[in-house]
Amino acid sequence: MADGMQGIDVDYDGLIPNNVGLNSDERLKKALETWHPGYIDWWKDMGPEGFQEALVYLRTAVSVDPKGWAKFGFVKMPDYKWGILLAPAVPNRTIPFGKHKGEPVWQEVPGEYRAMLRRLLVIQGDTEPASVEQQRHLGATAPSLYDLRNLFQVNVEEGRHLWAMVYLLQKYFGTQGREEAEELLNRRSGHQDNPRMLGAFNERTPDWLSFFMFTYFTDRDGKMQLEALAQSGFDPLSRTCRFMLTEEAHHMFVGETGVSRIVERTCEAMKAAGITNPADTARVRALGVIDLPTIQRKINMHYPLTLDLFGNEISTNAANAFNAGIKGRFREDKLADDHQLLDSTYPVLRCIDGQFVEQQVPALSALNMRLRDDFITDAAGGVGRWNKVIEKAGIDFKLILPHQAHNRRIGEFAGIKADPNGQIMSEAEWGARVDEFLPTNDDAAYITGLMQPVQGAGEYASWIAAPKAGIDGKPGDFEYVQIHE
Ligand SMILES: [Fe+2]
Ligand SMILES: [Fe+2]
Repeated sequence: MADGMQGIDVDYDGLIPNNVGLNSDERLKKALETWHPGYIDWWKDMGPEGFQEALVYLRTAVSVDPKGWAKFGFVKMPDYKWGILLAPAVPNRTIPFGKHKGEPVWQEVPGEYRAMLRRLLVIQGDTEPASVEQQRHLGATAPSLYDLRNLFQVNVEEGRHLWAMVYLLQKYFGTQGREEAEELLNRRSGHQDNPRMLGAFNERTPDWLSFFMFTYFTDRDGKMQLEALAQSGFDPLSRTCRFMLTEEAHHMFVGETGVSRIVERTCEAMKAAGITNPADTARVRALGVIDLPTIQRKINMHYPLTLDLFGNEISTNAANAFNAGIKGRFREDKLADDHQLLDSTYPVLRCIDGQFVEQQVPALSALNMRLRDDFITDAAGGVGRWNKVIEKAGIDFKLILPHQAHNRRIGEFAGIKADPNGQIMSEAEWGARVDEFLPTNDDAAYITGLMQPVQGAGEYASWIAAPKAGIDGKPGDFEYVQIHE
């Protein structure tokens, strides 16, 4: 189909909403319609537990126009219009980096990069249903209808992201693509025999603080990966990822404001009770709020798990994908260099003889490290804003992003133990002090105890502040989820 036929507006006439001209591609349409019932079964089995009959105030994409792409309305989740949406084509776009730099972008998969591309799509695609599975029990303990609605918005959009990857697999990868699309519905987060592909996506998300940490940190890994793939010389992937990024921003908003509202509520309660010492955990907890050191320990768990997602600091796979023009750097098109990196180097933090040293390595091999550095810069912003909330309350405490070597399982620091400040220690010392760094059973029990559902319109649990503004400009007492008929 000619590019000109692909519109900004979405066609909602068929079973699968799309702006890719699905009606004129019978083979693809049939493949996707065949996959659709399995997807709905997966959603009903592994999507949000309960609430499938509730009316949820969700946004649905009706266009890919950045100025107005979403329409809000009440919908039952299984009736959500999951569809296939690509950002508009950039006319005369050329491959922005690698050895094909300057050549016209590909509309079909180049044979030599087929396996590499398929692998990248499957890995990205696998994370989308995984997070829905991880979050499926949270509806039962939502601190408000506002938060419940945000959870479900994130969930349906992760479902749509799965559709986005499945579209590419089905359209461009033939039988193998169809098999991979099936497998994406078969793996299960945390399953012993058939787990999801990446570590962080097999962890539990047992409570709402974890959910907010996950959307703040782990969805941000998603953002970085999508940014890198949005630069791809394979144009359908670039356009797919560009539209996914529009949705992704909301997920990180949910995470950042979620943590911020918890911090705000804690500080407010401490102030009202005249507690100045943040480490006075027993007194703070007696107020029914989450003490700041526990929030830090949650960061110390979620942040390293997310850093692990960037893979080994030095990687030939990353170099190959860049050279091939398949996966670029964060905002590649805004960078001012040769976009080929043949002669340049990049500093990589390593641990040699028990010392951290920065080593210059060929920039091409260090692309994972570079993307991770960009992630760290991006993630630091929200932490700074959380600290502003604490500072404003006059409480002497600072949340930090732990040192990169803390609590890692993949890459350069997997073999060492370091505290959140980057102090290297022995296994024995780690064992003796781990309760200072990471959430304890006691923390988990306390947080679990707080997780009681609050379902009155405009009401919030004791441990979280109300948001500054409603979704879609709605007033404070808006009933975002109509649970009972
Ligand atoms: Fe996603
Ligand atoms: Fe997301």
